[in-house]
Parts: sequence; C-alpha cells; structure tokens
Amino acid sequence: MSDDDSDDELRITDRVLQSMAHTTDPRLKMVMARLVAHLHEFVREVQLTETEWLTAIHFLTRTGQMCDDKRQEFILLSDVLGVSMLVDDINHTASDHVTASTVLGPFYRPGARELPYGASINQDGQGEPAVLMGRVLAPDGAPIPGALLDVWETSENGLYEQQDPNQPDMNLRGRFRTDAAGHYKVVGIKPASYPIPDDGPVGQLLRALGRHPYRPAHVHFIVTAEGYRPLTTHLFVKGDPYLASDAVFATRDSLVVDFVRHDSAAEAAAHGVSAPFYHVTYDFILQPATSL
Ligand code: BEZ
Ligand code: FE
Repeated sequence: MSDDDSDDELRITDRVLQSMAHTTDPRLKMVMARLVAHLHEFVREVQLTETEWLTAIHFLTRTGQMCDDKRQEFILLSDVLGVSMLVDDINHTASDHVTASTVLGPFYRPGARELPYGASINQDGQGEPAVLMGRVLAPDGAPIPGALLDVWETSENGLYEQQDPNQPDMNLRGRFRTDAAGHYKVVGIKPASYPIPDDGPVGQLLRALGRHPYRPAHVHFIVTAEGYRPLTTHLFVKGDPYLASDAVFATRDSLVVDFVRHDSAAEAAAHGVSAPFYHVTYDFILQPATSL
C-alpha cells in the first residue's frame, strides 16, 4: 500500500467526522463522532475483508428479521457481547450500601397479579417449593413499607410461561407489597438454569465462538418504592454450575444466595408448602432517589 493510500484511509475518518460538524444536539454529535472513530479504527486494526464485511451485514440483517413484539434479537446480541451489563454498570454505580442491579432480560411481562404476603406464584404445582422472604430497606436500615416487588421466574423445565404452552398464562409471576415493617414473602419454586433463545443468529454466533447459551438459575425482581430508585435485579442460586459462565455476564457475587433445603413437614406446612422445600432470606436495599 502506498503512503497516499494510507493517507486516504485516515482522511476518510476526518471527512466523516467533518460531515457531522453541524449536528445541533451536542450529545448526538459526541456519541456519533466517537462511534465513527472507534468503528474506523476497528476496521483498520482487523483489516476487514469485503467478505467479512458482507457476512456482518447479513448477520445484522438476520438479527433484525428475527425481531418482533415477542423476540428482541438485538438486545440478545447486546447481552451476549456484555454490552447490556456494561450499560447497567455505568448507569447503576455499584455501592456496598445498596443492592446491585442486573439486566431485565426479555421475559418480563407487566401486569402480573398483586398477591398477598406469602402467596404462591406457582399456578400449576410443578417444581420444588421455595419460600423467599426478607425486607426492603433504605441504606440506613430503615424499613420501606408499601414497596412493590414484581417477581418472575422459570418453571422447573427452565422455560418462562410465555415460552411454554403447557404453563398457565402468567404462571410464576406476581407482585407483592411490603408490610408496615418492610417485610415481603413470596412462595415460588427453586428455579432452573436455562439456555437463552439460541435458535437465531445469536445462537449461531455463540456456537461459532464455542460458547454455551446457559444462564445460571435465578429469580427476577423489580423493586419499586416512592422516593427510591427502581431496582431491577435477580437472586441467583448458590452452587449453580453456570454462575461463572453466565451467557449474558449478568451475575454478581452479592446476588448469589443460599436456597436452604428443609425436609421438615411441619415447617413446610407453616409456609403452606409441601416438604422438601427451599428457604431464602434476602433484604433488598434501595438507593434514595435524592442521592442521584
Ligand atoms: C433472563 O434472565 O431472563 C435473560 C436475560 C438476558 C437474556 C436472556 C434471558
Ligand atoms: Fe431469566
């Protein structure tokens, strides 16, 4: 390659940046300028071939074609590349004083029934019972009464209800309010590890990279309370074999909890479940909205 050619390679970056000089939105201008600079640098660094460029175009086209109102393959792509979790990290500054957040994932459905303290979200009786209880607190330890916990999880087969025609509508989903002392109690099941949807281009990419599609078993929560920042998080099952290799990089040590097995029929009956059952205690600590 002659010096003139490599000058041209550099000049095209400047020309694209100059073409955006009149962008009035300063944030858009900065973000697009950095995107173009990094993208051009990447193409130069790997010396992208025309075949690779076309393969990438076809991959992104298939990713878009896979999206509809039930499937968001672009978010899944962002998830498996660690971008979703990086955005989560940047926007929810980790602090020892509040519960860590993690990704929402594609299986949340709004509108779950609001259930009384200690009610079961298990509508079909499948799976091993799990009693999840604790408090919702401010960082100073003050209880937060009336906080809302929106909870959802997979069935024991690793499928969310909308993926599984054999589960009742809205199975294993519910919303719970904390009592006057900030206590919540949810009866669900011990969740299973499961593969993220891998029948599309993201699954092909994982296989090409020699990666598995599994997420460690977890229960999802969105915890909201007036005057506090909404918290989107999971509780992970301690001992799960996929904790160190989550396909979407969304585990955090502080969110791994013991699902303690109990075999006593009397204890089970006190919670309205059958033995054996699992018991989890976890306090969620919310960040005051004023501390933003
Ligand atoms: C989930 O935990 O539901 C999930 C998160 C990211 C991608 C796929 C599934
Ligand atoms: Fe999940």
